[in-house]
Amino acid sequence: MNAPIMKAREVAYTRLRVPDLDRMEAFLNDFGLTTVEKNDHALFLRGAGPDYVVHVVEKGEAAFLGFALYANSESDLEALSASPDASDVAAIDEPGGGKRVILTDPDGFQIEVIHRTQTHAPLLQNTDPVNFGGRQERHGDTVRCPRQPARVKRLGHVGINVANLSRSWDWYYRHLGIVRSDGVGVGDKDFAYFCRFDRGEEFTDHHSVLLAQTFDEPGFNHCSFEVVDINDIYVGNEHLEAQGYKHSWGIGRHTLGSQIFDYWRDPWGMIHEHFVDGDIMNAEHEFQIHGPDVGAASQWGPQMPSDFGRTVTD
Ligand SMILES: [Fe+2]
Repeated sequence: MNAPIMKAREVAYTRLRVPDLDRMEAFLNDFGLTTVEKNDHALFLRGAGPDYVVHVVEKGEAAFLGFALYANSESDLEALSASPDASDVAAIDEPGGGKRVILTDPDGFQIEVIHRTQTHAPLLQNTDPVNFGGRQERHGDTVRCPRQPARVKRLGHVGINVANLSRSWDWYYRHLGIVRSDGVGVGDKDFAYFCRFDRGEEFTDHHSVLLAQTFDEPGFNHCSFEVVDINDIYVGNEHLEAQGYKHSWGIGRHTLGSQIFDYWRDPWGMIHEHFVDGDIMNAEHEFQIHGPDVGAASQWGPQMPSDFGRTVTD
């Protein structure tokens, strides 16, 4: 394969659109995100990690608009902007600042590639000691979990439903340099690729972008946020349940990526995931295609519901 134009480093934020920003803000605060700015047109939220914005919601008809990724350098933005389907490099007129190039992917989703120079302090450090596996770190202290929303750290990955998997894979590789960690398929038909950023020997999330050709229509599959620890999965679940939100799938442990997961639907049916304890991989990891019995299955916990990965409101 030809070398990609640039190699993106990490996912930055999701961009959704809903008709009622107040209602979405209430859901996302209950989900565990913190509002950094809200105006008549848009809502910007962060997690407890250093990223200033991990979720953007615009006002209008409910839709998934696209997502943003970080470039390693501004010169990568310049290289990308020379592509015929890319905008010029422009300043970001939104919280967090920096510069971006906007691309349109094969299904019409808006892919922003951004570079920021401003840095922000994390809202919390995860220093909770654990007595797990071979680790015995908590000496003479207890675990007590306040009743609260999950402590979300960061955006971990974004899943999109695509009309043509090989076309989308080719596009994401050529423009953003993502590589495939694992896939799901039957015979010679592939349904999904779990893709990570190419950082060579450096370890990164097993998948940061999921491309799935499971439905007839392109659309939003889900967005996924890493929480601090296993308590946040359960306490967050109980908090969202108590607020009356619609549960989608979980609590369980994935096979591909190994995350402990829990999926919730926002008031417009778009799926938001909490996860913790996911795999990190590097260039040593060998790409393989797995059957659906492995690829979509939970190692423990409920199996995938039939409407998973699709935006449904009832
Ligand atoms: Fe996920």
